[in-house]
Amino acid sequence: MKFFVDTGDLNEIKDLAATGLLDGVTTNPSLIAKSGRNFIELIGEICEVVDGPVSAEVAATDYETMLAEGRYLAKIAPNVCVKVPLTVDGLKVCKQLSDAGTQVNVTLCFSPAQALLAAKAGATFISPFVGRLDDIGQDGLNLISDIVEIYAAYDHIKTEVLVASIRHPIHLIESAKMGAHVATMPPSVIRQLYSHPLTDKGLAAFVSDWAKTGQTILGNAKAAE
Ligand code: E4P
Repeated sequence: MKFFVDTGDLNEIKDLAATGLLDGVTTNPSLIAKSGRNFIELIGEICEVVDGPVSAEVAATDYETMLAEGRYLAKIAPNVCVKVPLTVDGLKVCKQLSDAGTQVNVTLCFSPAQALLAAKAGATFISPFVGRLDDIGQDGLNLISDIVEIYAAYDHIKTEVLVASIRHPIHLIESAKMGAHVATMPPSVIRQLYSHPLTDKGLAAFVSDWAKTGQTILGNAKAAE
């Protein structure tokens, strides 16, 4: 499963990219506003830090302007993935851009029917929002299960399920069990994945017991030189 980070914070992206475990980045207009940065410059800088897809979302909602914005964004770097909303015009833009070889992430997906349409439009990624469905009392993970099942039934569908609006590690684990291809998570959720109290407790005990031996591993290596 690929891990993307969902943020417009370049320092967070650099920090997570340094782990070697980051496969891509997603942004949206709200995250860009929060960053306070110039959108085009920021996307260019993110693309230099991360080799994988970097989603940059169009701002317009009409077909002509979205298409022009998408073409412009795609020129920033080869790994830009143009993000479009799941609307009639958004899917028309998706079809145009994907036919031209541009990666497209179709966002704001809340139903399996919408996901099927995005696949037909040639989307590289479909972004179903689990957390926002949970927020209104619906089962976000059920949507992931439905989309994964539907896409798997058709060999010709190459669109990857990119689980978005992840709020906690359980969203990730359950999506991984279903076979979703990608998860985009806020930096805080990615950091939560590493931690378990028994890991901390066990490591503290190992460090303390090792100190009692009075040995150092590198001391042995130096002695053998
Ligand atoms: C995905 O690409 C979106 O930017 C993101 O996952 C939305 O998450 P939110 O519902 O926490 O805003």
